[in-house]
Amino acid sequence: MVVEVRSRAYCEARQRAGVLEDGSVRLLRDAGVARRLDQQGLEHGGIYLQFAGQRHHIDFRELTGGRTVTVYAQTEVVKDLIAQRLADGGRVHFDVTGTDVDRLTSDRPVLRFTDAGGGGHEVSCDAIAGCDGFHGICRPAIPSRLLTVREREYPYAWLGILADVPPSTDELIYAHHRSGFALHSLRSLTVSRLYLQVDPDEPVANWPDARIWDELGRRFDLPGTGWALKQGPILDKSITPMRSFVSAPMRYGRLFLVGDAAHIVPPTGAKGLNLAMADVAVLAPALDALLRGDSRLADDYSDTCLNRVWRSTHFSWWMTTMLHRTPGADAMEAELQLAQLRYVVGSQAAATSLAENYTGYPGPYAPPPGTH
Ligand code: DHB
Repeated sequence: MVVEVRSRAYCEARQRAGVLEDGSVRLLRDAGVARRLDQQGLEHGGIYLQFAGQRHHIDFRELTGGRTVTVYAQTEVVKDLIAQRLADGGRVHFDVTGTDVDRLTSDRPVLRFTDAGGGGHEVSCDAIAGCDGFHGICRPAIPSRLLTVREREYPYAWLGILADVPPSTDELIYAHHRSGFALHSLRSLTVSRLYLQVDPDEPVANWPDARIWDELGRRFDLPGTGWALKQGPILDKSITPMRSFVSAPMRYGRLFLVGDAAHIVPPTGAKGLNLAMADVAVLAPALDALLRGDSRLADDYSDTCLNRVWRSTHFSWWMTTMLHRTPGADAMEAELQLAQLRYVVGSQAAATSLAENYTGYPGPYAPPPGTH
């Protein structure tokens, strides 16, 4: 049973991430929910890194032995999962209120909620997957003395827009610029997704459309090449704060935290959605075994997931701090960022590290034997 406090329309419209790792695509195919993904997803074999007025291509296929990523919006994944769940005869309760979880360390944890029609429910469960995000109720249901939290806030935010205009590029562009970071992504061959580094406390009202295009044009500019950013009507506009956050362990009795309920990464590098799907890939067989009386995979769930979570937390922090302008940073820091960027585009070893992290590790990331 799935319970959701938002409406189905809200879940299916909210603009979120859009880049799926190889492994996430395979997971969706294996689960039989990739029909539209296979029709509409756009495979990408690399990215551009732009800095100091030049754009450099990082070729994932060449660096990783053929691995790629696929652009397909999280919103579309959500639509596909809801449709399949309903087609399979599963229950999805939208617009619920009064959610509560209880008796988590027993064999029959309890989920309470009030449905959209006002009816009260008390469900006796085998297990509860807390897929309820950073602000959800599941993580706070774990006694705080049992949790270790690691957290970092960044002194900037992303202003994201969806624009009804064909992308001005064949691959995503990550641009480091004196005025701040910018990212050119896409959702289809006719819709572009673009992001700008802005101050975290700035209201979206400070950013009328013309100012956004002006600033994007400046940050992606390639003087003397004739390249130009195509503009179009802005369909959606929002500001996202940026933080790294990891709460461990990810399990308490029969409650298993999944995705943002346990960990948040800053968006640079597109790891958030992929990490949530990697958690699910570990949880599904663990629950299957648990219900057959074998708790070993469930007992390993948190450690297995956290290995990958920390790898992605480091990668997202690295991409973020390499590419953004840190307010108040001194000239030393600015030079160190440029040195790192030159190294990534100039060294096959450094470029391979970026490519391997960006396309994602095959299977749950595990350290070499004997390291823990
Ligand atoms: C997108 C988001 C990201 O955070 C990123 O690194 C690349 C692409 C996107 O929404 O398309």
